[in-house]
Amino acid sequence: MILNTELEYKGNLFPSKIVSYEKNLNVLSFTTENGVILEVTVRRDSILRFRFTTTGIFENDFSYAITKYASRGYNHLEVTESQDNYIITTAKLICHISKLDLRTSIFDATDNTLICEDELGFHWEESYEHGGDIVKMSKISQPGESYYGLGDKPVDNNLKGKRFENWVTDSYAYGRDTDPIYKTIPFYTGLNNKKSYGIFFDNTFRSFFDFSHERRNITSFWAQGGEMNYYFIYGPNMSDVVVNYTDLTGKPHEMPALWTLGYHQCKWSYYPESNVKEITAKFRELKIPCDAIYLDIDYMEGFRCFTWSKEHFPDPKRMVKELADDGFKTIVIIDPGIKIDMDYSVFQEGLEKDYFCKRADGPYMKGKVWPGECYFPDFTRPEVREWWAGLFKELIEDIGVKGVWNDMNEPAVMDVPGKTFPPDVRHDYDGNPCSHKKAHNIYGMQMARATYQGLKKFAYPKRPFVITRAAYSGTQRYTSSWTGDNIATWDHLNIANLQAQRMCMSGFSFVGSDIGGFAEQPNGELYARWIQLGIFHPFCRTHSSGDHGDQEPWAFGDTITNVVRKFIELRYQLLPYLYTAFWRYAEEGIPILKSLVLYDQEDSQTHYRNDEFIFGEKILACPVTGPNQKGRRMYIPRGKWYNFWTDEIVSGGQELWVDADLDSMPIFVKEGAIVPKYPVQQYVGEKVIDELLLDVYYKLGKENSMVYEDATDGYDYIKGRYSLRDFKLLGKKNELIIQQHKSGKFITTYKTFKLSLHGLPFKISKVQVDNEEILFKDIKLNGDNTLVLNKEFTELHIIG
Ligand code: GLC
Repeated sequence: MILNTELEYKGNLFPSKIVSYEKNLNVLSFTTENGVILEVTVRRDSILRFRFTTTGIFENDFSYAITKYASRGYNHLEVTESQDNYIITTAKLICHISKLDLRTSIFDATDNTLICEDELGFHWEESYEHGGDIVKMSKISQPGESYYGLGDKPVDNNLKGKRFENWVTDSYAYGRDTDPIYKTIPFYTGLNNKKSYGIFFDNTFRSFFDFSHERRNITSFWAQGGEMNYYFIYGPNMSDVVVNYTDLTGKPHEMPALWTLGYHQCKWSYYPESNVKEITAKFRELKIPCDAIYLDIDYMEGFRCFTWSKEHFPDPKRMVKELADDGFKTIVIIDPGIKIDMDYSVFQEGLEKDYFCKRADGPYMKGKVWPGECYFPDFTRPEVREWWAGLFKELIEDIGVKGVWNDMNEPAVMDVPGKTFPPDVRHDYDGNPCSHKKAHNIYGMQMARATYQGLKKFAYPKRPFVITRAAYSGTQRYTSSWTGDNIATWDHLNIANLQAQRMCMSGFSFVGSDIGGFAEQPNGELYARWIQLGIFHPFCRTHSSGDHGDQEPWAFGDTITNVVRKFIELRYQLLPYLYTAFWRYAEEGIPILKSLVLYDQEDSQTHYRNDEFIFGEKILACPVTGPNQKGRRMYIPRGKWYNFWTDEIVSGGQELWVDADLDSMPIFVKEGAIVPKYPVQQYVGEKVIDELLLDVYYKLGKENSMVYEDATDGYDYIKGRYSLRDFKLLGKKNELIIQQHKSGKFITTYKTFKLSLHGLPFKISKVQVDNEEILFKDIKLNGDNTLVLNKEFTELHIIG
C-alpha cells in the first residue's frame, strides 16, 4: 500500500540539483547530480510534455494513446535562466524549473497568473513488491480549485476530495463510487481562478490520482511502474483543454454512419431467430423507431467467437438480410476468450501461429470465460491484430453483420481473485515486450482496434461500427463504448448521466449506458425516465441481462410505450443536429455533451452541478432522476433559453422549477439557435428527406448555428462531398436576418427548408430573400410563423 503523505518522505527519493541542461529544438533535457533526467518537450504553445527517468536512460518512447495525427508546432519558444530556475516561455505558457530539485511552476504567459505548481514534484520509491520504481508526482491544489474528467468514474462531476485507481476492471453491478471500473483514462482537468488546464498521465501501469483527498491542499498521481510521463495542457478555457487532449489522443477516425446514432435494442440474449424477428416486427408494428438489433453470446455455437449456433440461427445470412430489408442492422458480440478446442478453427489457427498470450514461464495464459477454458490473443502484436481483423471477413462481408460489440476485454477472467490475467503474463506491446502489469490497461483498447481494422476493411465502402467495454485514452479513435453492467435503479440513472458527461470531457464522446439498467428490472417509470436521458447520449441502446423480465419499449404497458415512442421519435428528429455535433467532435474534438462547468466555467455556480448538461451546442437537457416527480429544480446556465415544449423564455444564472410530467422532461434551447430536424423515420434511410425543418429561436442579437450533412455513410465526405451550412442569425427589434454560408459538394435530397420561427416579437409584414421581396403565398407563410424557402438562400430578412 502506498500512502501519499508527508510521511512518505521516508521511503522516497528525489531529484537533486541540475548539473546540465541541453536544448535540442523543442526538447529540453535537464540532468541532476543524482542522475535523474527531466525531458520537457514543447509540443505546442499550450502543451508541454514532462518525462523523467531515474536511471539516466529513457525507455523506447512508445504510446498507444498518442495519435500520430496530433497537431504539433508552436509560435514561440525561449529558454532563459534566473538564479534559481530555468524558464521556458512559449506563446501561452511560462514554465519555471527549479535548479535545486526539478520542481516546476507553470504560469499563464499573458498575465503571469500561476496555473499549476509542484509540491514535492517528481519523486519515486524503489519497490520490492513491484520490482521497480513507483513513480510519483504531487502538486499544490489552489484554494477553490476543482477537478474533472477521468473517464468512467461513477461519481459526481467535481472530483475534488476523492482518490481514484486506474485499472480496467470487469465490474458487474458496480455502484456509485465503485472504483476502478471498466476504463482507464488518466486525464483530468483542473479549474482554478477561472482558468483551466489538464494533465494527461500517459502511463499504462496501475495508477492512482488523489484530488485533495489525503491532504487538503495537495493533488497527486502515481503509478506502480513505468515512467513519470505526463502532458500539461493549458486552456485557459476548459473546452480548449478537452479539445487539445482529444487532439493528442485522437478523434474518431471517421464519422459514424448516421444509423449508428439511431436507437439500438439489445438483450442478453435474443434467440432463436424467431425471437429476434418477433422483437423487430414489434418495433415496426408499434411504430417505435429502431435501427439496430443485437445478438449477445447465445448466437454462437457454445460461445465460440466467429461461429453461429446451427440450432438457433440456421441461416444467418438470410436472417441478416431479412432484418436489413426491414431497416435493422445486425450487431453481434465478440469476446476475446477463444475456447480451447482442437476442433475449432479459430483456436487451431491461433495455436498454430502462436498468437495467444503466455505466462512468464512459458505455458499459455489459460482462463475461464463464457465458453469455459480459453486462450487469449495477444492484441498488442500487430500480426495478431491483423489476423483478428481478418476473422471478420465472413461475418461482415458475407453474412452482412453491420457492427461488432467487444465485451469482456478488460480482459475479464472468471473465478479468479483479480478477475483478470495474473501480472506475469507476457505481451509484445508492439515490439516493447512487457508484462501484463503494463499491458493490462490497453488490452481491451487493442482488441477494439483490431476489431475496428476488420470492420473497416470488410464493411468498406460503408463505415465501421464497433462498441467496446474496456478502454484506455485514445480508444475513441476506433470505437464507441457503453458504461458496462449497471443496475435498474434511480441512482444508476444518475450515474449514467454522470458517466456520459465525464466520458465526453475525457475525449470520448461516443458513449451511452445500458438504458433501463443491465441487472434487475426497472419499473415503467424508471425505464421511461432513462429513455429520456438516453436519447441525449451519443450512443443510445437499451440492454438488459434478461434474467429479470423484458426490457423492450412496450414491456411496461401502453402509457410507457407512448412516452418511450415520443422520445425515440424526438431522437430521430434531432438526428441532423446530433450528426452536426458529432462532426464537430470528429473534426475538432469538441465534446458532444458538455457538463455545465465545461459550458460556462466562469460561472462558479456550474462547478458543482451534475444533472444538467448541454447536448451539442444549443440544447440544455436535464433528466428527472427520481420517482413520482411532476418536474424538478434545475440550474439554468447564464443567457436566455426557450423551454422546448412551451417556448416560454427563461433567464439563466439561476435555479428554477421546471414542470416535467412523465411524458416530458426539462429541455431548453438557447436563444438564437437554429435547430435542424428530420421527419420521424422508423430507421435511418426509411424516407427520402424532402424538406429540412429549421427551428429558429429568435434572439435580440447574434448567434451562429451549423448543419452538417453528407451521404450518411461511406467515405465520399472525406473527398469534399458533404454539405455544411453555417447560419448567422441577427435579431433586431423589428427584423430577423439569417445569412447562410454553404460549403461542400454534397447535394442534399431536399430542396427546401421549412422555417419555424419561435419567439418572434413582431408580426411579419415583409420577407426578403437575397434582396427580393417574396410573396407570402410563395413561402407558404401562414399564421403559425412557419415558412418554406428554397434551401439555397444566402440572406433572409424577416421584417415586422
Ligand atoms: C457482460 C456484458 C453484458 C453482456 C454479457 C453477456 O456482462 O457487460 O453487456 O450482455 O456480458 O455477454
